[in-house]
Amino acid sequence: MCGIIGYVGPRVAREVVVAGLRRMEYRGYDSAGLAVIDAGELQIRKKAGKIANLAAELDHDPLADTRIGIGHTRWATHGRPTDVNAHPHVSQNHRIALIHNGIIENFAALRLELEAQGITFESETDTETAAQLLGVEVAKGADLAEAMRTVCGRLEGAFTLVAIDSTEPERLVAARRNSPLVVGVGEGENFVASDVAAFIEFTRSAIELGQDQVVEVTRDSVTVTDFDGNPAPTHPFEVTWDLSAAEKAGYDWFMRKEIYEQPKAVADTLLGRFNPDGSLKLDELHIPEAELRSVDKIIIVACGTAYYAGLVAKYAIEHWTRIACEVEIASEFRYRDPIITGTTLVVTLSQSGETADTLMAIRHAREQHAKVIAICNTNGATIPRESDAVIYTHAGPEIGVASTKGFLTQVAACYLLGLYLAQVRGAMFDDEIARVMRELADTPPLIQQVLDGLDPIKALARRFVDKQSVLFLGRHVGYPVALEGALKLKEIAYLHAEGFPAGELKHGPIALVEEGIPIFVIVPPQGRDQLHDKVVSNIQEVRARGAFTVVLAEEGDDEVVPYADVLFTLPRVSTLLQPLVATVPLQMFACELATLKGYDVDQPRNLAKSVTVE
Ligand code: AGP
Repeated sequence: MCGIIGYVGPRVAREVVVAGLRRMEYRGYDSAGLAVIDAGELQIRKKAGKIANLAAELDHDPLADTRIGIGHTRWATHGRPTDVNAHPHVSQNHRIALIHNGIIENFAALRLELEAQGITFESETDTETAAQLLGVEVAKGADLAEAMRTVCGRLEGAFTLVAIDSTEPERLVAARRNSPLVVGVGEGENFVASDVAAFIEFTRSAIELGQDQVVEVTRDSVTVTDFDGNPAPTHPFEVTWDLSAAEKAGYDWFMRKEIYEQPKAVADTLLGRFNPDGSLKLDELHIPEAELRSVDKIIIVACGTAYYAGLVAKYAIEHWTRIACEVEIASEFRYRDPIITGTTLVVTLSQSGETADTLMAIRHAREQHAKVIAICNTNGATIPRESDAVIYTHAGPEIGVASTKGFLTQVAACYLLGLYLAQVRGAMFDDEIARVMRELADTPPLIQQVLDGLDPIKALARRFVDKQSVLFLGRHVGYPVALEGALKLKEIAYLHAEGFPAGELKHGPIALVEEGIPIFVIVPPQGRDQLHDKVVSNIQEVRARGAFTVVLAEEGDDEVVPYADVLFTLPRVSTLLQPLVATVPLQMFACELATLKGYDVDQPRNLAKSVTVE
């Protein structure tokens, strides 16, 4: 997820663009840049790091006062966060400057095609491919809008593109597919941006672009077409949010916004990960298949929520690959003198990629000659840089301290890794792998279905706002989900909460059960050996002792109805994939309860988003 802005109008474009980027820095802060057209020439300034670095560069090497400009603050997906990889990207003929938000899946093939035509590339990014394609089109005589429509017809994946042509200083052109773009309509000036936060101080009149649309913008006109050039319907609206709310897209908290971003975050994490024949491709996994086939033990190392994602992954990876998989808390790992050999594969999970405990753990693992794969949401962070290979989740920046989309995308990425290992080692048949991948690819709309039905969870938060303790129970992959639900409540509602394996209650914790204590129970899908029935028995045990049971079970599960004080139905998914839908209500419960208590959900006390100390 990146921040994008374009401007055409009477103001100094550089100033409007930089101000807009500052308001979207939460969307990405790996690098920032802008382009203007001055006397028929493109002028570019771009720097790695936060927008302050770009501002300093502009102080040092100013740009002319122009009336058109585009700007970009990056959340890196392809290519490390360096000056060269920062946007805008320029075509070889210096006609086109382009900024991009999204993932162009087929950029590698297009790049080879362009290189065969003699185009030389400067960066590692997927974006530059689109810039070069536009440069080729306008060199053939197409105007910028025609060129944009032609190029969009060749791109696969998710993209918002904004381009300017040095020969057309009065017009910018933008396009979108599966990635947001709004037009800000002013008086004698117009804007395009990733979200309204970029231009809200100048105008509240906006137009949201639809799927596969191109928009041509001058200071006095906005023209919208489809990719074939036909006039397309527009969706004008008035922005009612204030600036602060605009940065959160109208939500009260970044955490709530990120809970609702989960369908797209999971979909983007899965995007481009498998071939047309259903087989998996993990391009960034540069460990030879022969080495992966020699792996005889996997150790997942992580902290907090990431550790719980690892606990979920263990069940799937062992089931699919038949390789022993241990899951370790990073801060404990290296002090217990773990057994590591050259055939041990260590997998680290980290949203930030900077967690000191996890970093120290992988350094220890590499000293012991283990291979290390990082699953990370932050391109170019320390942990991926110090690993042998990386699988990036594409959740976009996670601003709320309490991890939500980070967790779901870590689980999804672990599933990809498990299936890939099974594929490489021949531990599963191709059709089995393809079946699981299809089910995985079908989960984003099921996550959305859960998000659309959260009102009962919000009502529960109001009911339990004065409770002093909440328990969470689950079995199999439901147990780490219970742990995650408890952690959410601890870290943002400051409430005592504990997750237990449901079968463990009778060995002590059941003594905690008293009249009216809320107990959430994650019930596995029916039909799985004894698992379902055992959990139903556990619900009866706690209910018999006065607990208020909130039961999360798949739709159609009638067995649990008599024992649920509140029943929250989940979409039907297979057992291993249930965490992708069961976790969401627990995230929202914590967010609601903390909000009702008047706490700062995004920046809870005593916590930091990335714990860079041991
Ligand atoms: C989760 O809500 C917490 N913010 C915390 O447990 C976090 O998951 C942990 O510190 C690991 O962070 P990382 O994923 O950035 O490594």
